[in-house]
Amino acid sequence: MSSQISARRLARDLGEWRSHRAAYLALADRVRVMLIDGRLASGSRLPAERELSSALQISRTTVAAAYAQLREERYLRSVRGSGSTLALPDGQRGPVQLTQELPLDFSKAAAAAYPGLPAAYQFAVEQLPHYLSHQGFDMQGLPELRSAVADHYSERGLPTTPEQVLITLGAQHALSLLTHTLHSPGERVLIEHPTYPHAIDTFLAAGARLLAMPVTSAGGWDITEGQLLIRRSAPSLGFLMPDFQNPTGASMSVEDRQRLARIAAREGTVLIADETTAQLDIDRGPLPPMASFSSSIVTIGSLGKLAWGGLRIGWIRGPKDLMAKVLRNRPAMDLGTPLVEQLASIYLLRETQLMTANRSRELRGGRDFLAAELTEHFPQWKLQLPDGGMSLWINTGDISSSALALAARSEGLAIVPGPRFGLEGAFERFLRIPFTYSREDLKEGVGALLRASHTAGSIPSKLPLQAVI
Ligand SMILES: Cc1ncc(COP(=O)(O)O)c(C=O)c1O
Repeated sequence: MSSQISARRLARDLGEWRSHRAAYLALADRVRVMLIDGRLASGSRLPAERELSSALQISRTTVAAAYAQLREERYLRSVRGSGSTLALPDGQRGPVQLTQELPLDFSKAAAAAYPGLPAAYQFAVEQLPHYLSHQGFDMQGLPELRSAVADHYSERGLPTTPEQVLITLGAQHALSLLTHTLHSPGERVLIEHPTYPHAIDTFLAAGARLLAMPVTSAGGWDITEGQLLIRRSAPSLGFLMPDFQNPTGASMSVEDRQRLARIAAREGTVLIADETTAQLDIDRGPLPPMASFSSSIVTIGSLGKLAWGGLRIGWIRGPKDLMAKVLRNRPAMDLGTPLVEQLASIYLLRETQLMTANRSRELRGGRDFLAAELTEHFPQWKLQLPDGGMSLWINTGDISSSALALAARSEGLAIVPGPRFGLEGAFERFLRIPFTYSREDLKEGVGALLRASHTAGSIPSKLPLQAVI
């Protein structure tokens, strides 16, 4: 079922929509751009003409003409009896491989290894002889590592036992295991919009129908929309990144965590809180883990961002009976987590404080440097400085980020365009730029983007030139 946008909400979200153009064109322009940049979800229903005209205090003829204009441009589908549904006409994910090897690769929001990594591996190799009588297939994770992960949650105010933890090959693997265990093809999954692209891939591959809950860098989560989607569509799963969300960098307030946890528990939607980015704090301070608001919330985590992506160690934390179900499903996917990496992770988790302080320092430097470069070279771009995470999520105004990403390739830079983080072509005016690279690389990357912007052109002329945040 598609969600209905109320006339009041639309009137509020349209903001100052009037322009020098005729009112019906200005209204159509604004609805179209809100659809493209993801603030209105494709598939949602616009209010009845009469209701919107009354909320906006304009004539019904003007609203009808705006809807007709959107219909003609294929941004609106009207089916007798079921209203007017928003749609993106050519929203395709694109066959072009945007991230193949280039001199500069900004396609990943990930950092170089924590300097303590060699010592962790040395510790692991020293410990290894104690484990060699073990047959080596470890589906659940070493008890010492599960204890260390459990302690990490208990210390953050979420009492956890080792039986509630399962060690995986990174958070992506954890997400796949959970999807296989908790979701059946055809069921709905609530996602944040924009979201982590491989989560979209995972859910679509499992035959999910996705429901998009908007999230923005400045405004955070549209919890009211999330509540509505859960109540109306009863998704089997909801996927969230409550801390330093990838790509917006936003963090969910305590009150919003409570509200979402409450409705999900009531409606039987299992929330997966992805905490892969949760330790990437620059200047925010701790917030209670999402799972502390409901015992049915499942958490996934990883050492990938804090220590090193190459470690490939992550975990699932959740109810004990869920761990048993996941364990039963696991052999179809893989036969366990390597021991050396697990032993290194035991060492690393003892250094969590050092690792977070180290990352925080690096991330602060990278964030401030990149923001200054962009402000100098792209003063028209709108960016909100995040208080953590690994990237800036930037509104590029009238520049199409897909066109920019393609042009940047000719300048030797791989970068992922905004629509990759959303559904059906949304976020064309957004670009994610990670700030985890060296200053030289960041400077060169911005230079490459600047040259690319001269050839990229802008979003099709039907769209207004004014940037919209
Ligand atoms: C939000 C989020 N979840 C999961 C992952 C994957 O983590 P891992 O490398 O531990 O599989 C990433 C990596 O970019 C991520 O950003």
